[in-house]
Amino acid sequence: MLHVLGLGALFFPGLFLLARRCARRALPGWTMADRSLVGTRFVSSVQAVLATVSGLIIVSSCRDVRNDRHWLATAYLWFLIPYMTYDTYAMYLCHWYRSLEKENMDGKKLVMRAVKSFVQKDFLMFVHHMAILTILVPIGLYFRRGLGDFFVGCLLVAELSTPFVSLGKVLIQLKQQHTLLHKVNGGFILLTFFLCRILLFPFMYYAYGRQYGIPLYKVPFHIPLHCNVANASILAPQLYWFCLICRKAVRLYSNAQTKKVG
Ligand SMILES: *[C@@H]1O[C@H](CO)[C@@H](O)[C@H](O)[C@H]1NC(C)=O
Repeated sequence: MLHVLGLGALFFPGLFLLARRCARRALPGWTMADRSLVGTRFVSSVQAVLATVSGLIIVSSCRDVRNDRHWLATAYLWFLIPYMTYDTYAMYLCHWYRSLEKENMDGKKLVMRAVKSFVQKDFLMFVHHMAILTILVPIGLYFRRGLGDFFVGCLLVAELSTPFVSLGKVLIQLKQQHTLLHKVNGGFILLTFFLCRILLFPFMYYAYGRQYGIPLYKVPFHIPLHCNVANASILAPQLYWFCLICRKAVRLYSNAQTKKVG
């Protein structure tokens, strides 16, 4: 699987540089920090589409949710390693350019400030990426002993909401918060996040229960405890993010209301 690692290590940074270069053509007035941010959003969206498509292929080809195998489940996990590494670095890079804009500082101070702003503003994302790299990928590659490719596919489909989240962030950056596109996109974020990141979990339990003829509510007692713990710890941050998104949505749509009234 070294070639998948190598492919990812070329693909993601290469795509980022390309996207940033296109952004320079399309948006000449933009700073390097802004262009880099758009570049990272674009690469995240491409990765999300690839993950979703792979996930759908895996889910639809595994009849037996516990034992069936699909080569993409392992290959995509390998592909995620360079992506998560690249994305962590790219996030840092955006903070670095941002610090560069602000003040004239010497190199060491600049790095310190960039690291500080990275940790302050993207801490949860950083922990999320590190948890995937150090916990989920090793579990997915070694510790599950080849069981449950179906569930790996399900978790990949969870990425479906990412392109909408990215588009939303770019629209905010372009100061297009008040457009119809931003509102429609907000609706898609809510819908895809709810379906693919929250409802996904009862669906996985349901799929398991259906195969073994167990009612949904009994499934947690039939699978090993660590599976429940793993599911719960993946679900927990999704619930937190969903709450944040709902709060933002309420603000977005109620703002629109007051504007219309006033
Ligand atoms: C999540 O739950 C399903 C329940 O059917 C289980 O088969 C699967 O292994 C769990 N996922 C993880 C990552 O443990």
